[in-house]
Formats: sequence, C-alpha cells, structure tokens
Amino acid sequence: MKKIQIAVDGPASSGKSTVAKIIAQDLGLIYLDTGAMYRAATAVALRNNLKVAADIIEEIKANPISFKNTSHGQMVFLGEEDVTKLIRTNEVTNNVSWVSAIPEIRTFLVAEQQRISDEGGIIMDGRDIGTVVLPDAELKIFLVASVDERAERRYKENQAKGIPCDLDVLKSEIAERDRKDSSRAVSPLKQAEDAVLLDSTGMSIKDVVEFIERRAKELM
Ligand code: C5P
Repeated sequence: MKKIQIAVDGPASSGKSTVAKIIAQDLGLIYLDTGAMYRAATAVALRNNLKVAADIIEEIKANPISFKNTSHGQMVFLGEEDVTKLIRTNEVTNNVSWVSAIPEIRTFLVAEQQRISDEGGIIMDGRDIGTVVLPDAELKIFLVASVDERAERRYKENQAKGIPCDLDVLKSEIAERDRKDSSRAVSPLKQAEDAVLLDSTGMSIKDVVEFIERRAKELM
C-alpha cells in the first residue's frame, strides 16, 4: 500500500485529533498532533516566564518535544518530563494563541513537523497543515462543526474526566480561540484550496472516520 500524507485542519475542538488517531491506527500511518507541539511551547513560555521567541526555542532545544504511544493514548514529553496533562490545562489553552502566532516559533515547529513527515505515511492535524506544513499532501480535510456542538462535545469530555466546567464559558473560549487562530498574520487557520470541507455537526466519530478513510483508501 502506498504511504500517503493526510492533512486534517480545522477550528478548536472539531474532533481532528480524535479521528486522526483512529485513522492512523487503521491505515498504519504515523499520527502527529501539531497542536500538542504549540501547547508544549506555550507551557515552556509560561513556566519560564519567557516572551521572546529565541528564548522559548532555546529552552525547547534543551528539552525537546517528543511523543510516545501507549495503551492509554499518546503521551507528550519535554525532554524527560511527561507534560501530557500540563499542556491541556486552561492556562495553556488560553495562552496558546499568542505563542502560536509568533513567526519564529512557527518556523521552528513547522521544520520539525516536516522532518517527522519524511519518516513515512502520516496523518497530521492542526491549523496550517494543508496550507503550509504538507502543501503536497495527497488528502486534505478541513473539518468543521458548529461552535455549540464543539462546546458540547468538550463539555461531555470534561464531565467524563471529572473536570468541572461551564458550557457558556467553553463556548466563548472556543469562539475566541477560533477568532485569534483565523485572524493572525502568519499561517492563519484557513481551508486549503484543494481541501475537502467536512462539516461534522450531527455526525458521529465513526461517520467522520469512514468518510476520510474511504477517500484515503482510493489514494493508497
Ligand atoms: O489542536 P489544538 O486545539 O490542540 O491546538 C492548540 C492551538 O495551537 C491552536 O488553538 C492554535 O493556536 C495552535 N496551532 C497552530 N497550528 C497548528 C496546530 C495548532 O497554530 N498546526
């Protein structure tokens, strides 16, 4: 089977990583969660109180971002430290947009993402995968869903994990992150011209996976 590249872009909490993980497993592709890399860079900036790109990058070089697949899901590390939970905290989520808008941080992380994609067939999810990171990807999906539905999905996930949250706060945070990600100067969230638009409002995870896999299999 041909090892293809699949780019999955879309707004916050549209289900990109959930479906990308399943598809990676089913089709034998590497899975790369690029949002986790921007989140890890944000954790580095907040923790060390760094605002300048060069300082953040230097710190990441000293403690590189890496991933490990386990039976409990994908773990994220900074150097030897497990930051899987830290990068999902509200503090990181509410600061990631300014860190990911810094051009030098993007150049650094995009180079790393492209290096990983050289290792073989890959499915990557993010905001600029189809437009910047993998412009020649065989399959590009732009996955969207209504803000209400995305907030409700996130609310249920949090409830299942025992994380207290408020639905209206989630809605406004998601809408605000979309606004910042879509309006930034460098690599804004944007559908690539050759991407397939998939609105998953009202669709199950299984339906979304099947839709993408059907198209992927035609290209493999
Ligand atoms: O996908 P996730 O919601 O974890 O991404 C967190 C943040 O990282 C996004 O809101 C966005 O600011 C940034 N990001 C990005 N480019 C990517 C992936 C994520 O700017 N390719």
